[in-house]
Amino acid sequence: MERPRLVILSGAGVSAESGIRTFRDSDGLWDQYRIEDVATPQAFGRDPALVLHFYDLRRTQVLNARPNAAHEAIAALEDNFTVDVVTQNIDDLHERAGSSRVLHLHGEIRKARSTRDPALVVDLPGAHLGLGDLCPLGSQLRPHIVWFGEEVPLMPRAASLVEQADVLVVVGTSLQVYPAAGLVHHAPPHCPVHLVDPGDVHMPGVRFNHWKEKAGEGMPKLAAFLRATYA
Ligand code: OAD
Repeated sequence: MERPRLVILSGAGVSAESGIRTFRDSDGLWDQYRIEDVATPQAFGRDPALVLHFYDLRRTQVLNARPNAAHEAIAALEDNFTVDVVTQNIDDLHERAGSSRVLHLHGEIRKARSTRDPALVVDLPGAHLGLGDLCPLGSQLRPHIVWFGEEVPLMPRAASLVEQADVLVVVGTSLQVYPAAGLVHHAPPHCPVHLVDPGDVHMPGVRFNHWKEKAGEGMPKLAAFLRATYA
C-alpha cells in the first residue's frame, strides 16, 4: 500500500524553541530591524556590509541552535508517511533533525550565491560572509536568501507538492507573507489542514484543525494522532 503523503508547511515558530527568534511576535526580528534596511536587494545595493552583518548574526544563531522536539517529531513521521517539508525558514534544523526532503522557499542561511550567476550556490563553512568574498566567477557572494521584492523560484514545486498532499500540516507561521502563505489554498478539497501554533492564525476560506500549542508540544501530539489515524 502507498504511504499517505504528508506536507508540512513550516515557519519561524517551529524553530522558536530552538532559540531562533520569530519575525512578527512581540520582540520579533522585525521589531528590531526594518525590512527595507536589511532584507531587500536595494538594501544590499546601498549598504552591503550592513546586510552581510545582519545575516552573519542570523547564521551564528543557527550554528549555535539545535533541533527541538517539533523538528524531531516531523522527521520521525518519515517512518510512516511520505513527508515533504516546505519551510519558510532559512535554518537547517529540519535537516539536522533527520528530515530528508526539505524545500527552503526563502533560501538557506548556510549557503551563499554569486551576484553574477544565481545558479552558482556554494556552502558556507562558517558564520561569516563578508565584502570581498567572491564566487568562482570573481563576483561578490551574497546570502542565498530570497529578499522582499524578489521571485520565489521554488513556489511552483512547493505548490505541486501541496496539490498532491493527503494531509497538510501548517506549523509556526503567521501566514502573512505571500506567495508562501497562499500555498494552503493549493491543498486538495478533501485534504485535512492541521495547524500547530500557540497564536491565532487566520486564512480566509481555510478551515484549520487547530492544535493551539507550541510546536515542541503540539507537533509530537499531532504526529501521534496522524499515526493512529492513517498509518
Ligand atoms: P512570523 O514571525 O510571521 O510568525 C511566526 C508564527 O509562529 C506566529 O504565528 C506565532 O504565533 C508562531 N509561534 C511562535 N512561537 C511558536 C512556537 N513555540 N511554536 C509554534 N509556533 C510558534 O514567521 P513566519 O510566518 O515564518 O521571510 O514568517 C514568514 C517570513 O517572513 C519569513 O520566512 C521571513 C519573514 O520576513 C523572509 O525573510 C523572506
